[in-house]
Amino acid sequence: MTSDDKWSAVHFALVELTGFVNVHFAVEEALMRLHGYPDLEAHIAAHRAFSADLVEIKQMSIREDVSREMTAMLKDWLVRHIGVADKDYVPHLRRATVIVAAA
Ligand SMILES: [Fe+2]
Repeated sequence: MTSDDKWSAVHFALVELTGFVNVHFAVEEALMRLHGYPDLEAHIAAHRAFSADLVEIKQMSIREDVSREMTAMLKDWLVRHIGVADKDYVPHLRRATVIVAAA
């Protein structure tokens, strides 16, 4: 793999990730909104901040190899958001969907 191949692979991964993230965030936010999740605005703000960082690193990836920055960013997101914030809304959605199912 040449450095050009690596650059292309990282840029392509960031383009693909952007598409996935946009859909995933929209679905997650719609579910939280539908079921009245009380921490919705803070959760949306975290999504927007990640999306802004993703746009920035994707732009950087056009000019340079950002594989280390991408790895650090995704690791941080995995630990802090998916590992904590996303788990925080699970009990609320479980209660809400049980109530909807019982109605
Ligand atoms: Fe989230």
